Amino acid sequence: MQNSLNYSKFAPLLKAIMLVLNTNEELQAALAPNRRDQSDIGLVPTMGALHQGHLELVHKAKLENPCVVVSIFVNPTQFNDPSDLEKYPRNLNADLDALRKFGDGIIVFVPGIAQMYGDGLVTKEYDFAGLDLRMEGRFRPGHFQGVATVVEKLLRVVDPNRAYFGEKDYQQLQIIKKMVEQERIPVEIIGCDIVREENGLAMSSRNKRLSKRLRKEASFIYRNLKTAKNQFGTESASSVTGWVEEQFSSHPDLELEYFVIADSSTLKPVQRKRKDKKYRAFIAVYAEGIRLIDNVALN
Ligand code: PAJ
Repeated sequence: MQNSLNYSKFAPLLKAIMLVLNTNEELQAALAPNRRDQSDIGLVPTMGALHQGHLELVHKAKLENPCVVVSIFVNPTQFNDPSDLEKYPRNLNADLDALRKFGDGIIVFVPGIAQMYGDGLVTKEYDFAGLDLRMEGRFRPGHFQGVATVVEKLLRVVDPNRAYFGEKDYQQLQIIKKMVEQERIPVEIIGCDIVREENGLAMSSRNKRLSKRLRKEASFIYRNLKTAKNQFGTESASSVTGWVEEQFSSHPDLELEYFVIADSSTLKPVQRKRKDKKYRAFIAVYAEGIRLIDNVALN
């Protein structure tokens, strides 16, 4: 009777085991065969608490690269509000379960703070020529410097062919494109459509913190963005802005922080509409103390 195990029958199972790695060294070892064979690597940076919006990025990355690294790291330097950092949802096991459904070819990189930052939480200073000072940057000082710092670190460690970011954080996407250009990092930055809940609310890890009633009520944000888009076809930016501000001023539960119509690439607020320019509307709203953001292309 033969006693030796035939491993070949386990090969598909072994291949389907998803690698979860914590250190740069482990990551380099895992990526070595891809680098040797010049087989493409995709990177999807996240802070975990994964939802369908994140998973669409992974899906797209998987279609375009044989190997996809999904990083999960709640980056302290991008939180200007310590209580927001503390309350940020963390659920690694659920995240790993969601990623396992993609089968093989996924590496999950879950570094610790020391792995990413060494001894000190130092944020690099970038000059984004004002891109980082408007909208989110204005209300979250230092936020984008922290985002760019951690994304640059991840890009240097993973050295991917492509990296994927959601248009949900459109300003972040533009800033990362700028950072990559300035730092001359050879990677293609790919923007992906906003994934929404059935009622139109942009998916976000923060939505889970909303009460059931407000999660439903928050569809008001996207409804107004859609109307603003229609109005923008015939009306001036200031009249559309005034209309949106009025809608929120009479809403009992949703507090408008800003509504800005800006040039899609420079993010400068529109003064006078021009036919040859692309514009987007950006919004931030507080619901039950939770900050929600969204944006929509206007033309
Ligand atoms: P996080 O909020 O976890 O988002 C990770 C990526 O998922 C970002 O590119 C974000 O734009 C995208 N995303 C989130 N919700 C989305 C939605 N509803 N539709 C489409 N894409 C969506 O953004 C960050 O983390 C961090 O700033 C990070 C880039 C990881 C740096 O720390």
